[in-house]
Amino acid sequence: MAISISLTVNGTPVTAEVEPHSLLVQFLRDPLRLTGTHIGCDTAQCGACTVHLNGRAIKSCNMLAVQAEGASITTIEGLAANGSLHPMQEAFRNCHGLQCGFCTPGMVMSAIALVQTQPDASADDVRRQLDGNLCRCTGYHNIVKAVLEGAAGMKAASSNASADAAASATVTA
Ligand code: FES
Ligand code: FES
Repeated sequence: MAISISLTVNGTPVTAEVEPHSLLVQFLRDPLRLTGTHIGCDTAQCGACTVHLNGRAIKSCNMLAVQAEGASITTIEGLAANGSLHPMQEAFRNCHGLQCGFCTPGMVMSAIALVQTQPDASADDVRRQLDGNLCRCTGYHNIVKAVLEGAAGMKAASSNASADAAASATVTA
C-alpha cells in the first residue's frame, strides 16, 4: 500500500505516494525524474547516489523514500543558481575532474559537504574523506585538484556574499 510523503526537493515542496520499500534514490530518479543522481551499486558502496539531506551528504540508495518525510533534499540539479554553476561544479569542469562523468554528481555533492564542514581541507583530507565515492575511471588526481579549487571558489563566493550583505546594510541604514 502506497504511503504519502511530503518533503522539499531542491527548494520545491513535493507531496507524493511512494511504496514502503522504495529507496530514496528510486523516488528521486523515477517519479521526480532527477536522473543526475546515479545508481552504481545500490549497496551503499560507490557514492554515485549521494545527495544532501538537511545539509548532510547521504547515500540515497541506503535510505527509504518514506524516511525522508519532512526533509529538505538537494540533488545535483539543485546546485546551479541563476544560470551559474556552483563553484564546485565549475572546479570539476575547470580541472577536468571527470572522465565518463558517472561518479561526478555524487563526487560533487560529497565534496561540497566536505568543504562545508572542513573549509581548509588538505589534499590528504580530501582523499580520506571522499573514500566513500568511487570513480571507475580512476581519475582521482584531478578530482582531488578539483575539490581543492572548488573549496577556494566556495570561500570566495561566501566572502563576496558577506561583502554584498554589508554594503546593502550600509545603504539601507
Ligand atoms: Fe548508492 Fe552506490 S548507488 S552507494
Ligand atoms: Fe567515470 Fe568517475 S569519471 S566513474
